[in-house]
Amino acid sequence: MTARHLISIHDLTAQEVAELFDLAARIKAQPEEFRRALAGQTLGMIFQKSSTRTRVSFEVGMFQLGGHALFLSSRDIQLGRGEIISDTAQVLSRYLDGIMARTFDHQDVVDLAAHGSIPIINGLTDDLHPCQGLTDYFTLQEVFGDLQGRKIAYIGDGNNMAHSLLFGAPKVGMDISVATAEGYEVNSFYLEQARRDAAAAGTRIHTTHDPAAAVAGASAVYTDVWASMGQEEEQAKRVKAFAGFTVDEALMAKAEKDAVFLHCLPAHRGEEVSAGVADGPQSRIFDEAENRLHVQKAVMVSLMGDA
Ligand code: CP
Ligand code: NVA
Repeated sequence: MTARHLISIHDLTAQEVAELFDLAARIKAQPEEFRRALAGQTLGMIFQKSSTRTRVSFEVGMFQLGGHALFLSSRDIQLGRGEIISDTAQVLSRYLDGIMARTFDHQDVVDLAAHGSIPIINGLTDDLHPCQGLTDYFTLQEVFGDLQGRKIAYIGDGNNMAHSLLFGAPKVGMDISVATAEGYEVNSFYLEQARRDAAAAGTRIHTTHDPAAAVAGASAVYTDVWASMGQEEEQAKRVKAFAGFTVDEALMAKAEKDAVFLHCLPAHRGEEVSAGVADGPQSRIFDEAENRLHVQKAVMVSLMGDA
């Protein structure tokens, strides 16, 4: 990758995404070949929010590459007591070889990259979740092979996952249809950016309030929680607003016959997805979760390795 950081999939070329997926596939198939790839290096992992997959997969990934990962909860480091991002970035750059950060404000990750001198990896912000989005398309590539001309449908909240999937689709040649509830549309700034990427790539982006229209012709159906981290107090209001947006067996039946179901997890069965779909034959959610490890190892080798 020519990029020094992974902040948004928008910043990567289609070629870079393809190369990253090739590397992730090699790492997945032959992990022992990469056992020393980041020997002696340390990744700092700043978390302002909870995590299961991101924390564990980055920490295990770094260990498997011969390096070390440091968990830095914002509750424990001075950032949580008001130390500014630019000082944090400059100080941590003196100790670490890379930082993975999960923040509320997207600008915090941008500022870490601007003020630090080491690679910054976005581990989820309120706006974007590029590691997850890349992993999702990698998982679809494993299922279908070439993704050119296929379509993914995203059903639910116009959130960080929706934005990252919008950015990823044109990079792998897929069309994307996003069905959100009224009042919960995707951010128009990111949508316009993604539309320009899609126009350049010759792919289509469609937005709607109709889940059935979104899944028609789709090879993949994706959903995410209706209330993201930081929106817990809106849970009840959102459950009402998203009535009719549950990905259930009836909705899956309107997608392509060979369609798969994806979810970044954690999932709320009975809300955004039925238990029958989440745990059913079309679901690839645990392959998807596993692939976070392989794709992020490829991201770290690309950004922090010598090659
Ligand atoms: N999908 C995902 O990022 O999960 P965590 O919040 O558990 O890291
Ligand atoms: N949209 C969810 C994704 C969790 C991985 C959130 O931000 O909480």
